[in-house]
Amino acid sequence: MAGTPTRSSSKITRIGILTGGGDCPGLNAVIRALTKTAIYKHGLLVFGIEDGFLGLVENRVCDLTSLHVSGILTRGGTILGTNNRCDPARYYTGDDEHGNPIFTDVTDRCLGTLDSHGLDALIVIGGDGSISCAAPFVEAGFNCIAVPKTIDNDVVGTDITFGFLTAAATATDALDRLHSTAMSHHRVMVCEVMGRNAGWIALHAGVASGSDVILIPEIPYDVDRICQFVQSRMHRSRGFSIIACAEGARPVGGEQVVAHFDPTSPQAVRLGGVSQCIASEIQTRTGIESRTTVLGYIQRSGTPVADDRVLATQFGYHAIELLMSGARDRMVVMRDGGLGDVDIRFAIDKQRLVPDDDPLVAAARAVKTCFGD
Ligand code: F6P
Repeated sequence: MAGTPTRSSSKITRIGILTGGGDCPGLNAVIRALTKTAIYKHGLLVFGIEDGFLGLVENRVCDLTSLHVSGILTRGGTILGTNNRCDPARYYTGDDEHGNPIFTDVTDRCLGTLDSHGLDALIVIGGDGSISCAAPFVEAGFNCIAVPKTIDNDVVGTDITFGFLTAAATATDALDRLHSTAMSHHRVMVCEVMGRNAGWIALHAGVASGSDVILIPEIPYDVDRICQFVQSRMHRSRGFSIIACAEGARPVGGEQVVAHFDPTSPQAVRLGGVSQCIASEIQTRTGIESRTTVLGYIQRSGTPVADDRVLATQFGYHAIELLMSGARDRMVVMRDGGLGDVDIRFAIDKQRLVPDDDPLVAAARAVKTCFGD
């Protein structure tokens, strides 16, 4: 590939940072930890790439000083901006005469941007989609260090990603609140949470809130089972049921509910709407009034919980230490309570799903939580 950068040597003096994919709480905490460690401990010059990989395509690069990252630890979102629709290897440039999207590989243009700013390494803060976008740079010889983020908690190689605990806490709070109105009206309340194809948010928030039913993509549901369960609770004079439902939940032998499809996006499918299908089925089959709440983007927004701030700070610090120790093309991870790292390619095109033998599923089943199976 042309345009292989000349500055990817072991001498690191200038680094770039970008945040890619959907935002999540804790991104600013990582940016702060990376920047301060790089400047204070190693005397590096730090640059921020705006709006994820789009900033590399469009050469939008800014200085990041300690002043820029001061006071951002508790702030949601990302001061750099982000983008979950730009993959430089498959960059959307418009539609052809038939309305089909046209894609171009602009990796070389991005490598040119990195080179023009004299960057020696790029820190990619992202989920599996953004880490995949970094692969062509790694193949071209440019050193990339990944920091795994996502509320979905589905990055392979790490036990946890920052953002997840805040999203799970937000979902728990919503499920807690729904109890009182469900009880008052003797209703079934189906609360849909995010997570894409992984059920981690629904599982954790469902257990934390004592939800009666938890539906996750990894355990396909049978709507008859759910109906029997909520009916039995009505008969046992509980008079209501709370269902924590992942957006990726699907019936046995059936499909996930797709909200929309964007062929120009690296992850084209956007899930959403399953809670309405489930609530309608329950109401039709049992006659119990059923309502839905779709939590949506509040799970990604707002200030990170303390544990996410701590994790983000550890990840940011460890990423710089790795880089300065001479590491190349690694992803920082948290495994068995300790910081570590794996090859950056390890996480590409995979998802960490809830396993069949997950201990939290076993604990939830033991307290008679229904998984719809
Ligand atoms: O990956 C994070 C996430 O919030 C998923 O849980 C959700 O399915 C998706 O992003 C939504 O993407 P968008 O921001 O494009 O609507």
